[in-house]
Amino acid sequence: MAKINKHIPVMTTNVKGAFLAKPNGVFVDCTLGSGGHSIAILEKLLSQKISSAQIYCTDLDLRAWEYFQTLLETKQIKFTVISPQELKIAGTEIYCKFLHSNFNSLERILPTVKFDFLLADLGPSQNSLEDPSYGLSYNKTMPLDMRLDKNLQVNAADLLQGLGFKQLKQLFRDYGNIKHEGDLAERIVEQRIKRLETTSEFNAIVQAHVADKYGDSQVTYRKILAKVYQALRIAVNLEYDNLHGLLDLAAGKLTADGKVAIITFHSGEEQILDIWLKQHRGKFQHQVSKPQPAELSANPRARSAKLHILFHASK
Ligand SMILES: C[S@@+](CC[C@H](N)C(=O)[O-])C[C@H]1O[C@@H](n2cnc3c(N)ncnc32)[C@H](O)[C@@H]1O
Repeated sequence: MAKINKHIPVMTTNVKGAFLAKPNGVFVDCTLGSGGHSIAILEKLLSQKISSAQIYCTDLDLRAWEYFQTLLETKQIKFTVISPQELKIAGTEIYCKFLHSNFNSLERILPTVKFDFLLADLGPSQNSLEDPSYGLSYNKTMPLDMRLDKNLQVNAADLLQGLGFKQLKQLFRDYGNIKHEGDLAERIVEQRIKRLETTSEFNAIVQAHVADKYGDSQVTYRKILAKVYQALRIAVNLEYDNLHGLLDLAAGKLTADGKVAIITFHSGEEQILDIWLKQHRGKFQHQVSKPQPAELSANPRARSAKLHILFHASK
């Protein structure tokens, strides 16, 4: 079974509220993570005595399926295993199927399926952030990797070594909204005699840059570090392309009363949504909600979360 799950799902109450439980519905959790939102969907189905549905779960991280099964056991929801990546909830015709894949590939994997609800909770899970093999966290010394999908050819160290000054500057500006981004890019390019291999080596460069521009404040240093890591992670994982692709897919595969739920964590993701909605003006309605105050104090990750619900505009 999976290692200890440290991820606390955000905005599950809001997700449950938005989710329309209906018999024979087809629901997709594009970012299974530790399974928190899939369980919320399942609990709503079961509480409404809906006994037939299909839940597809995708994630790039194979551990997600293990976390999900562990969570089912913790919640005492009984199930039978049908195959290594499919299970059936006991006493029902509710099937959960795991697709170990980028959510961008859903069109190819499920070409004929229409969805009643499609959820994406963006960004990495706490379990990946704390796993040194992902190299996502600036809090520990890790290899500078950041790939959520190990099939990707280029990692963070490759980008820092291979991108030109202008490309690095653009990366920090477009994906991190970082000020003095040219100075940071210049500093990285200047120290390239030795390839950066670890988060600590890279942090030292960011720290010198922050000290130069803002002084010695640890708070400022950590704020900028967070933005720089976010920018690199978005670039390595092609996160904006993936989000755009997901929205296109959802638009084509949503049932007439279906809903798309996207949980965003920063303005860059919100911008992608806004641009996409403008491109589809008049076709979709958009509602946004924020976490309840109680959740904000219980789960720091919820502080920047927003739930976006998209559905077909009524004709
Ligand atoms: C924030 S976590 C989701 C947490 C989950 N909602 C829960 O309640 O436990 C995001 C998950 O999405 C996965 N992910 C990120 N980008 C992906 C993509 N393009 N395709 C599939 N999974 C992706 C990550 O591996 C991570 O497990």
